[in-house]
Amino acid sequence: MRVVRTTKELREALEYMRMGGHTPIGFVPTMGYLHEGHASLIRRAGEMSSTVVMSIFVNPLQFGPNEDFASYPRDERRDLELAEREGADIVFIPSVEEMYPQPVLTKVSVGALTTQLCGASRPGHFDGVTTVVSKLFHLVQPDYAFFGLKDAQQVAVLRRMVSDLSMNVEIVACPIVREGDGLALSSRNVYLSGEERTQALVLSRSLRETRQAIEAGKVTTADEARQLLASVISTSPLAVIDYVEILTFPGLEALEGGSLISNAEGEIIMALAVKFGRTRLIDNNVFTPKEVHALV
Ligand code: PAF
Repeated sequence: MRVVRTTKELREALEYMRMGGHTPIGFVPTMGYLHEGHASLIRRAGEMSSTVVMSIFVNPLQFGPNEDFASYPRDERRDLELAEREGADIVFIPSVEEMYPQPVLTKVSVGALTTQLCGASRPGHFDGVTTVVSKLFHLVQPDYAFFGLKDAQQVAVLRRMVSDLSMNVEIVACPIVREGDGLALSSRNVYLSGEERTQALVLSRSLRETRQAIEAGKVTTADEARQLLASVISTSPLAVIDYVEILTFPGLEALEGGSLISNAEGEIIMALAVKFGRTRLIDNNVFTPKEVHALV
């Protein structure tokens, strides 16, 4: 595995792999502090590509002024061990100065897909994500790029960016990886106290119970689904709801309150953002109501 820190070294390492015929190239962009979710992305990339490139870069552009950019967890040595174990070939770890040697005047923005859910709570966040991911795509020129569905809105936004800008890369969305007790893996889980972590299990439980209620025909409208999600979450005294939403996926259009879930075309997403102490967690479930309806 080669570790490169400058864009010049990255281009050289990629050129070497391309000259050797080690294509297609799979790319896993990350902000480090890797966990089993990232490991699953590297493995998927390895199945689909001959060269696996991973980037580790805590991108200041996607953090708001009062967010955790400075304190975001970092552990390069552990990250490199995991990357090597899982089969990455090239790891790109640029400094902020290397990525942004001058103030960034050019921004990539995906309009209406970034104004709801996390886009509403974290203004500017998705512009930071799409700007850095476009820059990384230009540097790596991957055939495939791998992202976890825990950040489902990010997947929807990046797919749209790739389509709108005719970028020659396929976005591969990979399933959410959970702890045995249901907590979705996130680098930010490290911030949770023992009690907060226990109470955070309510997120996956609310999604599971609401999905089961929909499948059993006990919950039929979007309003009922939102209410059930919120009422299960509210059984945790530490939980402070940021949003509980049910939308089309990947279009991210809100389902009208009284509309029947079973009438929705294509996939829908139940998406949550909830704070436990100072830690904001997200979780979601994407499914096709027509298939569920056929089961009922
Ligand atoms: O999902 C992440 O870790 C980040 O948003 C990404 C895609 C690496 C961009 O900084």
